[in-house]
Amino acid sequence: MAIPIGLVSSGASESHATVILYDNMEKMVQNESLVLIRNKNGGEILAVCRGGRGINENVRATGFTPGVAYARAGRVPSSAKEYYTFELEVIGVVTDNGVEQNKLIIAPTSQVEMFTDEDNPMKYLGNTELTIGHYWGKPNWKVPVLKQYINYHIGIFGVTGSGKSYFTRYEIIPLLRRAGYSVIVMDWKGSDYAPYYDTVIPLDSIKVDDYTVLKYFSSLTRDFGYRGREENPVSAAFEKALRRVEWRGKEPSEARRLLYEKAREILEAEARNVKSETARLWIDRLNASFEEITEEELEKFLGTIEPWEIYAEAKEKGIIVIDMSKGEEDQKLGAFYAIARYLKRLMEKKQRLDMALVIDEAPQYAPWQPRGLAKETTDIIIDMCALGRSYGLSIVLLSQGMAGEIGLNAAVRRNLNTQFIGRIHPLDLEEAQKLASSYYISADSLLTLPQGHFYFLGRMNPSPTPLLISFEIEEEKDE
Ligand SMILES: Nc1ncnc2c1ncn2[C@@H]1O[C@H](COP(=O)(O)OP(=O)(O)O)[C@@H](O)[C@H]1O
Ligand SMILES: [Mg+2]
Repeated sequence: MAIPIGLVSSGASESHATVILYDNMEKMVQNESLVLIRNKNGGEILAVCRGGRGINENVRATGFTPGVAYARAGRVPSSAKEYYTFELEVIGVVTDNGVEQNKLIIAPTSQVEMFTDEDNPMKYLGNTELTIGHYWGKPNWKVPVLKQYINYHIGIFGVTGSGKSYFTRYEIIPLLRRAGYSVIVMDWKGSDYAPYYDTVIPLDSIKVDDYTVLKYFSSLTRDFGYRGREENPVSAAFEKALRRVEWRGKEPSEARRLLYEKAREILEAEARNVKSETARLWIDRLNASFEEITEEELEKFLGTIEPWEIYAEAKEKGIIVIDMSKGEEDQKLGAFYAIARYLKRLMEKKQRLDMALVIDEAPQYAPWQPRGLAKETTDIIIDMCALGRSYGLSIVLLSQGMAGEIGLNAAVRRNLNTQFIGRIHPLDLEEAQKLASSYYISADSLLTLPQGHFYFLGRMNPSPTPLLISFEIEEEKDE
């Protein structure tokens, strides 16, 4: 049973009110407590307490009163004039179909009641079939989500150690599975997901398409010695060699020899039509390039598992993890790009995917200012977001920062219609203040949230105001 905690004060509107607490209630009502306002003008309104204040005119610090004189003398001033208030951020009016926007002015002196652990106000928010975590401090209050917005994409933000990866593993992935999505997880570090799931594919066993391999080696060799020039016979020859010889799945030394010999053969054939010194230059540049294209470098691309196999495996097993721990940045981006290109092509052919792509450490793929391969991965993430809304691909991005240098690319971020925001980095204070001013969440509280706590906001949230949620983890055994 909800317990009465106070009365609405003068000055309430349809979306905002202040409650004056009954005596002693200040010891129970907390920031983020959920309450019901019994509006004397009609309806029962669900609201959340944000921003409490204790007021005692006797001890105003800005003027001299008898109370201040008492305090100065080391005595306790009268508390007769003391009272406590809380700002109430309205979620909506309770109807038979869940909560709806409240349109009636909240009458002053309307009674406010606080829900207890036994109540479950979450049921007012809608269908509780699909839920995520639980409301702050209330393990029984599972928070409902709107399934139809899952493929409007999800962003999870918070500093390192705020609990993003745990939240994803304990809550987001199970939610996606229950909603009928198969899941591919890109595990950048290889330690957040790979140890916990059955089907794990190591990075270097993935087949990276020729296009991406060419891009990688072009960047490694400064365009095969032709940086910035349009005509590039060496690159063209290498590209043909990639396509004409069977080099994947071979020993690195063998693969390298095959590619070199084929590229050289192609160049020599074309050399018949040019001056001999031009032909010499070509071969020199090919040789110089192959000093960079070492066995070690090639080894990164000898994998044979194709993107369609990864897709099929995810469909069959429900969830697969790509372990990207062994590999350099460009190689990781290359493998991701290959998978992304395949998914994009399927959607362009109007295939419905019912698939989620979970990308931890997302700023690696879509940084604030992308360069090199990251430009391609950033663009393809944006394309996948657009197509995904029509063809059932949900993009889930985890990032330690929201905006600016540590953040996610702004164009990508605009596509994330649901956000979970944990403890943020001080560099994101400005971002926090924007949120704070729209929802009465204090920027301080965003900077100091404990691990595993997230504000849930956006399309998937049935409440128009963000809700503070958390989740339980199983105690982990020490090694
Ligand atoms: N809901 C939670 N309750 C208690 N501890 C948590 C919770 N979520 C995360 N943690 C702790 O926080 C640590 C960091 O979490 P992690 O998900 O790795 O952070 P991030 O991915 O944001 O860097 C974990 O090792 C875990 O012990
Ligand atoms: Mg993490």
